Amino acid sequence: MLALNLLLVLAFTAVATAEFVWKHHNNEELPLVLEEVHRKCPNISRVYALTEPSVQNVPLYVIEFSDNPGIHQPYKPEVKYVGNIHGNEVLGRELLLGLAHHLCDQYMNHDRRIRALIHSTRIHLLPSMNPDGWQVSADTGGLDYLIGRSNNHSVDLNRNFPDLDAITFEFERQGISHNHHLLKDLSKLTAPLEPETRAVMRWIMSVPFVLSAAMHGGDLVANYPYDESRSGAPVSEYSASPDDDTFRDLAMTYASCHADMASKSRRGCHVTSSDESSTYNFGKQGGVTNGAAWYSLKGGMQDFNYLATNAFEITLELGCEKFPAAEQLESEWERNREALIEFMWKAHSGVKGIVSDDAGFIQNAIISVVNITGPVPRPIRHDVTTGIYGDYYRLLTPGHYEVTASRPGYFPVSRVITVANSRHTPAILLNFKLEPTSNWFDEESSFGGYGHALRDSQPRIYKRSIYDQVAKSIMNNRPEK
Ligand SMILES: *[C@@H]1O[C@H](CO)[C@@H](O)[C@H](O)[C@H]1NC(C)=O
Ligand SMILES: *[C@@H]1O[C@H](CO)[C@@H](O)[C@H](O)[C@H]1NC(C)=O
Ligand SMILES: *[C@@H]1O[C@H](CO)[C@@H](O)[C@H](O)[C@H]1NC(C)=O
Ligand SMILES: [Zn+2]
Repeated sequence: MLALNLLLVLAFTAVATAEFVWKHHNNEELPLVLEEVHRKCPNISRVYALTEPSVQNVPLYVIEFSDNPGIHQPYKPEVKYVGNIHGNEVLGRELLLGLAHHLCDQYMNHDRRIRALIHSTRIHLLPSMNPDGWQVSADTGGLDYLIGRSNNHSVDLNRNFPDLDAITFEFERQGISHNHHLLKDLSKLTAPLEPETRAVMRWIMSVPFVLSAAMHGGDLVANYPYDESRSGAPVSEYSASPDDDTFRDLAMTYASCHADMASKSRRGCHVTSSDESSTYNFGKQGGVTNGAAWYSLKGGMQDFNYLATNAFEITLELGCEKFPAAEQLESEWERNREALIEFMWKAHSGVKGIVSDDAGFIQNAIISVVNITGPVPRPIRHDVTTGIYGDYYRLLTPGHYEVTASRPGYFPVSRVITVANSRHTPAILLNFKLEPTSNWFDEESSFGGYGHALRDSQPRIYKRSIYDQVAKSIMNNRPEK
């Protein structure tokens, strides 16, 4: 009898510690929650901290989910969620702790969708990028609209990233086609980087992220690049990125899977009078907005991801209230759960593959895309690059595309693909085998200077012929309107 009681007590203790409680977890509790998830799911998770802590020395903890934690695997896109950048916007922080529990529990419960997601995707959750601001906000009751927003140096972290928009807009004006990984084109920083910013920059430069969302509060909308206007005007100027269609699709995925972000009948946030027109009601526009069309900002994390790396990031405003009461957290989880999971699946849209030559993988090959869906081919002026395994991931919406892999010293190769409307399936697989130009020139070296001229102008062999042929066949097969 005694033994049985003891067993029951032990069993109860195990369940009690494993149970996730919806509440505001403080900076000491946050890593314990992550460790608890890792204890329950040791084979598919890993807890780590970014390279630098906050100003007040609080580590920036991340939990990772993968069937091979700690390792990037070719063909597996990497996704991240970042919460609590503004210390007083706290819902994302708790949602990510809840999401970590959910992924672990559902994996153990053999949920097929969650298992497939974790087996095909590497997921990183950073619940709090600004633990110091959270502390200030929590200490003052989370009531004020601004207290605790910044880090401990009173710097707004979502204005502290290098302004790469200015560089890409200048290149656009000058007709310079260089359009990706622009950090190396930055000549000086306008403000010193905060430790939290630097830690996150190092993270996003070192992990080959494909898809990302940053979580805020104070409105209910999924916001997509660019956040900065081209004219420098502070308000209301749509600032389309080259991937405008893809970004809108990503934002709409979150909004439409959320309980009411995309609802046309909900009230807008901050409505004080009966006059609804005086404030934004994003529900009326499908729960999404271009960043600068709402208001322009410089130095945001979202545009930095897109212009410095291969990652596509959107910004989620998760609710009208920045610091919702603890009693609301569980219902907020229910309202966001589908959206959080469906958004991660978006890392599998479009096309992916490996670029190699006879000797092995080619890192830093360039993948460029022309949209050949419509009658006029439209280049998407934002290239992505291959990683350490020669692997690339190119998010795209449904349509027909010509995809080209190139790298100085190789002949470029182009292929045409069709991206279909599909859910929960891996991206189209498209590998490239490149031939070094040197192979060819060596044989032709008896022709004197001829090889050099070709090498300098980087002839795009295969390109026109295949493109014309397939574009024509696609257009001939187009169904009548
Ligand atoms: C983790 O993997 C090991 C070895 O493959 C296995 O024996 C163990 O049951 C797994 N644990 C869980 C919790 O899945
Ligand atoms: C920085 O942190 C200290 C210690 O928590 C706190 O007393 C101080 O108010 C904070 N300053 C700001 C600007 O947040
Ligand atoms: C390509 O063009 C088609 C037709 O205009 C459009 O529906 C699709 O979203 C475009 N794709 C991208 C990635 O811009
Ligand atoms: Zn915010």
